[in-house]
Amino acid sequence: MTSSPSPAPTPTPAPAPAAPLAGRDVVIVGGGSGIGLEVARRAVAAGARVVLGGRNEEKLAAAAQSLGDRAGWAAVDTTDKESLARFFDGIDRIDHLFTPAASYRVGPMRELSDSDAESPFVSKFWGQYHAVKYAAPKLTADASVVLMSGAASVRPPAAAPAYVACNAAIEGLGRGLAVELAPVRVNVVSPGTVDGNLWAQRPAEVREASFAQYGRDSLLHRPGTEGEIADAVLFLFTNTFMTGSTLYPDGGYALR
Ligand SMILES: NC(=O)c1ccc[n+]([C@@H]2O[C@H](COP(=O)([O-])OP(=O)(O)OC[C@H]3O[C@@H](n4cnc5c(N)ncnc54)[C@H](OP(=O)(O)O)[C@@H]3O)[C@@H](O)[C@H]2O)c1
Repeated sequence: MTSSPSPAPTPTPAPAPAAPLAGRDVVIVGGGSGIGLEVARRAVAAGARVVLGGRNEEKLAAAAQSLGDRAGWAAVDTTDKESLARFFDGIDRIDHLFTPAASYRVGPMRELSDSDAESPFVSKFWGQYHAVKYAAPKLTADASVVLMSGAASVRPPAAAPAYVACNAAIEGLGRGLAVELAPVRVNVVSPGTVDGNLWAQRPAEVREASFAQYGRDSLLHRPGTEGEIADAVLFLFTNTFMTGSTLYPDGGYALR
């Protein structure tokens, strides 16, 4: 008995690759140190061009130089709208925007001055809101934006109600901007405690006590690294179906 050859199987289309970063323009407002600089390192290594923004010119110049000739920098203060307008005027196009820039005070409502209590909203919430607003005309049609939050939004580590609320508001802002700016994708990264530049500036005894507490409170019993958070940001840059989401690279802190 003979049988006719079965028809050639229809080839299954290859899965769509995540958007590559080679040749793309990445802007990191708050890129002169910490998580922002770590994102810049990874983006440059993947073939992107990056522009770093921040307030301290010396720090930015040194950071950009460490990244090589695909990195540039310009000064910007996200709490100053004229400064934001100048910064984004100097940029032609943005494929990916990350906005970790912020400086603020954290503490209990009954202890902080009003201006300190308001500082997370002034710097971290409105700073990112206005950064995206001034960047918007330069975003390409398939651009992505990643906002910076913090896992205190879902699990307050201590009495710091304005800071907790600010992070929760940023996660809401990400959802709201995803709706307004589509097809530009907007997501939020909300890390737990990170053993990196920010904590290195704080007194050793405060840092060690916080890291020990975080070890007890999280499922993985340690703070994260800047590289682990940067990897989450690159995922949000490049995964073309992610929008309106918040990722929690926090070692399981929010679950306990
Ligand atoms: N590290 C953690 O444990 C952790 C955890 C959760 C969330 N986060 C969030 O991550 C963000 C950054 O943290 P990081 O760990 O990468 O610390 P970082 O090294 O201090 O990075 C912040 C960067 O933003 C810049 N910056 C601050 N205020 C600015 C402003 N008004 N305008 C422009 N640039 C400004 C700083 O440079 P200049 O001072 O030169 O401007 C600095 O390079 C913060 O929003 C923080 O809440 C951090």
